[in-house]
Amino acid sequence: MNWHARYLQQAVWTRDLRTYLFEKAGLTAASRVLEVGCGTGAVLGEIHIPAALHGVDLEPESLVQCRIHAGSASLTRADAHSLPYSDRSFDIAFCHFLLLWVENPLQVLREMARVARTVIALAEPDYNQRVDEPDTLKPLGEWQTQALLRQGADPFFGCELAETFHQAGIRIQETGTLQQSGMKRSLEEWKNEWDVIETDLAGFVPSVDIQRMKSLDEEARGRGERILHVPTYFAWGKT
Ligand SMILES: C[S@@+](CC[C@H](N)C(=O)[O-])C[C@H]1O[C@@H](n2cnc3c(N)ncnc32)[C@H](O)[C@@H]1O
Repeated sequence: MNWHARYLQQAVWTRDLRTYLFEKAGLTAASRVLEVGCGTGAVLGEIHIPAALHGVDLEPESLVQCRIHAGSASLTRADAHSLPYSDRSFDIAFCHFLLLWVENPLQVLREMARVARTVIALAEPDYNQRVDEPDTLKPLGEWQTQALLRQGADPFFGCELAETFHQAGIRIQETGTLQQSGMKRSLEEWKNEWDVIETDLAGFVPSVDIQRMKSLDEEARGRGERILHVPTYFAWGKT
């Protein structure tokens, strides 16, 4: 699995929202900015401002990649539950597709609120509200939700994001879901997504069933009838 390609793809989905939120939060005027759970640098590598950029991740492999893709950032291996920074040392701390993966999202948000004046959480899905059309593709949604649970994620966290901000003492300035209407996925994106699905489901769902679902998906897509919607939440606020 090429994780950087996957993260780049996810970063494309949220690019417009990110641009909007970063502007609202005053990114260009910031002097110190932190991404928590920076992964391979798909998002951090896209930020080109004079500010000092920092990234934190647990995985050494991701940080090796991040050094390539976000060369100007200072990178640190650390656990988001206990950030190695002093209070209020950043203007902005943000995360992107992170909180669903951590053991205690409230503790992570508390840490982000401790180290930064502004906190942005982008892209936290809620698979409870996933919509698959046509109906024949519903099992795919269930299989993917199970795969995320097996991998240790909380695929339903998105709908708790605003409440968790509140509990972390962050004053919400804006919250909502990513608007995806009218967004068409390219063939390349579709293939990348299926690479992820096939990897995630291998050994858990018979391959003949996976391939049948893939054909149904391709056919529905060809007829312009495919709907796949996973409400994906964001929030930003001040501490
Ligand atoms: C889905 S990836 C997203 C990466 C990046 N934010 C992006 O959107 O491209 C989640 C990242 O969070 C990191 N991560 C998970 N739990 C973490 C923790 N407790 N502390 C720090 N990083 C963590 C993972 O190693 C992974 O790189």
